[in-house]
Amino acid sequence: MKPPHRHDVLIIGSGAAGLSLALRLAAGLRIAVLSKRELREGNTLYAQGGISAVLDVDDSVDAHVRDTLIAGAGLCDEARVRLVVEQGPRSIRWLLGEGVQFTRDERYRSAEGYHLTREGGHSHRRVVHAADATGRAVEDTLEGRVRARGNVDLFEHYTAIDLIDAQRIGADGHRGIGAYCLNSQSGEVESFLARFVVVATGGASKAYLYTSNPDVTTGDGIAMAWRAGCRAANMEFIQFHPTCLYHPKAKSFLITEALRGEGGRLLLPNGDRFMPRFDQRAELAPRDIVARAIDHEMKRIGSKYVLLDISHREASFIREHFPTIHARCLELGIDMTTEPIPVVPAAHYTCGGILTDARARADLPGLYVIGEAAYTGLHGANRMASNSLLECLVFGELAAKDIESLADDWPEPPETPPWDASRVAEPDEEVVISHNWEELRRFMWDYVGIVRTNKRLMRAKRRVDLLRQEIIENYSHFRVETGLLELRNLVEVADLIVQSAQRRRESRGLHYTLDFPQRDASQRSPTILIPDRYSPRPERWRA
Ligand code: FAD
Ligand code: SIN
Repeated sequence: MKPPHRHDVLIIGSGAAGLSLALRLAAGLRIAVLSKRELREGNTLYAQGGISAVLDVDDSVDAHVRDTLIAGAGLCDEARVRLVVEQGPRSIRWLLGEGVQFTRDERYRSAEGYHLTREGGHSHRRVVHAADATGRAVEDTLEGRVRARGNVDLFEHYTAIDLIDAQRIGADGHRGIGAYCLNSQSGEVESFLARFVVVATGGASKAYLYTSNPDVTTGDGIAMAWRAGCRAANMEFIQFHPTCLYHPKAKSFLITEALRGEGGRLLLPNGDRFMPRFDQRAELAPRDIVARAIDHEMKRIGSKYVLLDISHREASFIREHFPTIHARCLELGIDMTTEPIPVVPAAHYTCGGILTDARARADLPGLYVIGEAAYTGLHGANRMASNSLLECLVFGELAAKDIESLADDWPEPPETPPWDASRVAEPDEEVVISHNWEELRRFMWDYVGIVRTNKRLMRAKRRVDLLRQEIIENYSHFRVETGLLELRNLVEVADLIVQSAQRRRESRGLHYTLDFPQRDASQRSPTILIPDRYSPRPERWRA
């Protein structure tokens, strides 16, 4: 058994949230960054549209705040929205300082001369981007910077299994002191101990059959923090992106909202434009509205897709602004400069997550949650496009400041018993895991998707409960492996989504149910779920 790895800060996750935090922390702190696969794999890498920030000389913080509140359908925490929006320009300048190259264009009068695109819900051009591969530009740059840092140890192909709470191993007081992690290459479970633990594991869209997200987004951090006694909020608000490519050979490929921002129109297969019938903002209405309209039209006419058409713009403009999408579509035989692209909605973003405060602290002392895994109050009932990468950067910085302010006095973790694998057997039927994965993702899509009902939610709940029993059994009897760990987490998160959806007896933002089709002003507060293990935390953490 390997001795535990020891660091000042353990960061689980290497997307925009985790890597920006690692780079913001003082060089005197010893940091571990864990990643389930290669460092760069995660949602950040695939982000297309860009990052929103007030950079246009005609734009204002008030306007960005207002747009975010409107998109959030009355459920955003206004103080948090303002906190994030005010730090937007600074966060972009920090990225520029790290070396990220954004697309330039002097015509759009951004203070720094960057091209600003438009996306749904934004009343101004506000989205800075690197053509249509913003995430790649950000992730590549941050990865390069973090690899060059002497104080950061990188652990790729490590899957965190569970967080370690000091009290559960017999020490005084609840405190996050590390995590047990599976080294996927050796198959061994290793202990990571740290004075501060940060969950930056991204969202949970793999709970759904169709998703824009890569395979690593299985809600691990949300499930781990929940099991460790932290509250979760607003888990019913799963965002479905209106336009993912519909093609038998294309798995998880997004067609950015910026395409609609630059004039792209949604059409039925017969060529009729339909969005103006649903909302006066047409294709640039917030995502919940556009996704529901597409879903409605597909069901009404019995079509498997709708079309997204930008072929009326100049071919050179399309190739310059959307090179990644253009190339991918061409590979599949679609020339978007002359013909429309078939698209469908797919699960895209987890608006809820683990409840955190304005310093990114979760309920368990010593534990921070940042990025898509967190509920910060920014997104309310529906996230506005391109506010997510911004949230990762802002809360990465806030967490770094808080950790540094506490670091001098924060205790070392106590000795921790190693992971005990002496009583488990080799997994016997791996096919059970893949069947259960498929079953979960299908019933979540069918029953807890864009349009919900009480009956569908009840059906989903029964199935979640059954799967949970089976998985607990497998987890306690067999050697752990990544598929089983991910399924265990997905079931946990699916349960949080279903329970939250059942509690909200109205339709608001991304949560739409036929049983309560109207918004109800009396339900204007977040859905907060409290785990059995939750106990109110000491004042010095909560203050
Ligand atoms: P991620 O980038 O998802 O990183 C999560 C990390 O956690 C990964 O390194 C993963 O390996 C690791 N991890 C997960 N579980 C474990 C575990 N158990 N143990 C160890 N490591 C683990 N947002 C915008 O603002 N603008 C956009 O233009 C935009 N475009 C998007 C396009 C696509 C196709 C997608 C999918 C999302 C897009 N988003 C966009 C959303 C945005 O990309 C994400 O919300 C954001 O990148 C999340 O960053 P993160 O750091 O929280 O998580
Ligand atoms: C997109 O480019 O459409 C995605 C933007 C986002 O999810 O914020």
